[in-house]
Amino acid sequence: MINVTRIGKHCGAEISGVDLSVPLDEHTFAQIANAFFDNEVVFFRNQQLTPAQQIAFTRRFGTLEAHVRKESRLAGADEIFVLSNKLDANGKAIGAQDAGRFWHSDLSYKREPSMLSALYAVEVPVKDGVALGNTYFASTTAAYNALSDACKQRVEHLRNVHSYREYRLKNYAAQQQDERRGIRTVQEHAPTPEQLASVPDTEMNVVRVHPVTRRKGLFINEGHTSHLVGMPRAQSDQLLARLYAHMTQPEFIYGHSWRVGDLLMWDNIAVQHKATFDYDPLPRLMYRTTVRGPAVV
Ligand code: OGA
Ligand code: MN
Repeated sequence: MINVTRIGKHCGAEISGVDLSVPLDEHTFAQIANAFFDNEVVFFRNQQLTPAQQIAFTRRFGTLEAHVRKESRLAGADEIFVLSNKLDANGKAIGAQDAGRFWHSDLSYKREPSMLSALYAVEVPVKDGVALGNTYFASTTAAYNALSDACKQRVEHLRNVHSYREYRLKNYAAQQQDERRGIRTVQEHAPTPEQLASVPDTEMNVVRVHPVTRRKGLFINEGHTSHLVGMPRAQSDQLLARLYAHMTQPEFIYGHSWRVGDLLMWDNIAVQHKATFDYDPLPRLMYRTTVRGPAVV
């Protein structure tokens, strides 16, 4: 019997009483899947998972992605995307260290964006007994529900373009700016032309109905959305800024303070998320698996 404890007001719950390293029976898996879609973000403490075990558990939710950033995949396990500020013996980054600088939903720029991501904490930076590098999750379904009727009508038929290309260029520029300010960052490669060309921009509805829960949410995010379709850029920027400010109000957010051995999963359709870069040069190492979702319309 699993135990589910809701923590955030609109998203975030702890699930206890499960060992994810062993194959789960159908009933237990169904309980976890229900709790996951209902709470939008769930986590399990004290898990001891090999990459293969993390892959085996998350694969039960669907097809796993191998990330477009090949240099950040774990050697021998293409489905694990490494997030870390650590360097290998040659001084080369062992993973992506800039993931999550902006509010975003994983792979939302793809024709088939991610359904969910699972992040396993291998090394967590701790300073003076306090864990650093929290991750924040904002429920887009709660944000949608809280819109006025007039605002719901305003956004109902809007479409937006998600652009991996613009995101990588924006991220790279932000990183360069950090360096100029003297904030140490791992020397990340500028996105390669191949990477940029491999993911074309995608147009999709602003209001997205969740395929499992049927809840409506706002599928726009500051990391990947480049603009709203069919209006001047300045007007689009203004409306997006208002919506982002609404969506990231504290009441919609669950903030996770990591412990080694946490496996945390979030619903990329129902929530967006953001990292905190307050720990460098303390080492942080996380392994992510990413489940593909249905195509956007
Ligand atoms: C991710 C991500 C944030 C973090 O794994 O997709 O955005 O805090 N991570 O590491
Ligand atoms: Mn992310």
